[in-house]
Amino acid sequence: MPMQKMCKIVEKVMLNPYAVSMALDVGELSREISYGQFVNIKCGEGLLLRRPISICDWQEGVLRIVFEVRGEGTDWLARRDAGEYLDVMGPLGRGFRLDREGRYLLVGGGIGVPPLLSCAVGTGRRSTAVLGFRSADRAMLLGDFAASCAGVRVCSDDGSLGTHGFVDGVVKEILEQDKGFTAVLACGPKPMLRAVAAAAQAYGVPCQVSMEERMGCGVGACLVCACKTADGHYHHVCKDGPVFDAGEVDWNA
Ligand SMILES: Cc1cc2nc3c(=O)[nH]c(=O)nc-3n(C[C@H](O)[C@H](O)[C@H](O)COP(=O)(O)OP(=O)(O)OC[C@H]3O[C@@H](n4cnc5c(N)ncnc54)[C@H](O)[C@@H]3O)c2cc1C
Ligand code: FES
Repeated sequence: MPMQKMCKIVEKVMLNPYAVSMALDVGELSREISYGQFVNIKCGEGLLLRRPISICDWQEGVLRIVFEVRGEGTDWLARRDAGEYLDVMGPLGRGFRLDREGRYLLVGGGIGVPPLLSCAVGTGRRSTAVLGFRSADRAMLLGDFAASCAGVRVCSDDGSLGTHGFVDGVVKEILEQDKGFTAVLACGPKPMLRAVAAAAQAYGVPCQVSMEERMGCGVGACLVCACKTADGHYHHVCKDGPVFDAGEVDWNA
């Protein structure tokens, strides 16, 4: 059951020049979280809408978010400091369906990387991560993934870190060599998700994707996040997702 509460920022750390990591004291809210869910945070005074941010990781009473500044809301959020309070609603959405005994290929791009960390931690070093960034100076959480995964491959669009190119090339390479993955779990921009879903399908591996649609209320009460699925129906990404089976998504919408 989602809660709305004022939560103290207990730690704020810059992971690189762009990405802010915040640990929030959320109390009992942490007991309700499952993998790939998000919180909707009031960013600013007045009428500005809440902004959805994925739950990167959590422990008893504390959750971590990682975000980059995109506009007014995230800029306001990035200027908050440890000791201040945030109005947090969550946990929200349907996350990844994860078997903790499973072995997953976790594929993240940019700000899609953080929510996959909890999946890595939750599957006890059995999973493998493929993480893509625009350039080396945008890389984040590499040490955390290395500590929580059987293996980590890093890619960059400009070749300044790891493999030069997009994540789907490395995903194909790994799926070609290793047929033992329970599923591919992916989060990132839609073109990346489309390419990763196609690769998983080609190798016959189930794939779940987390969609980054624009959101309003975050609880299914407005239509801001409506998105057409492959069956021709509209779904609320905030309530029916953000995670969908790749086969449910209308990739041409
Ligand atoms: C379920 C979910 C989880 C998310 N998790 C994270 C996270 O862990 N870390 C993180 O940094 N960001 C995350 N985002 C994206 C984040 O919500 C947006 O960056 C934020 O809402 C932008 O608000 P703003 O007021 O700063 O910018 P705005 O002024 O609202 O927008 C600035 C620019 O960003 C674009 N934009 C706004 N919202 C989105 C969106 N949802 N997807 C793509 N582009 C958008 C706008 O079109 C515009 O070009 C998530 C989004 C969703 C839906
Ligand atoms: S954001 Fe309002 S219905 Fe999804």
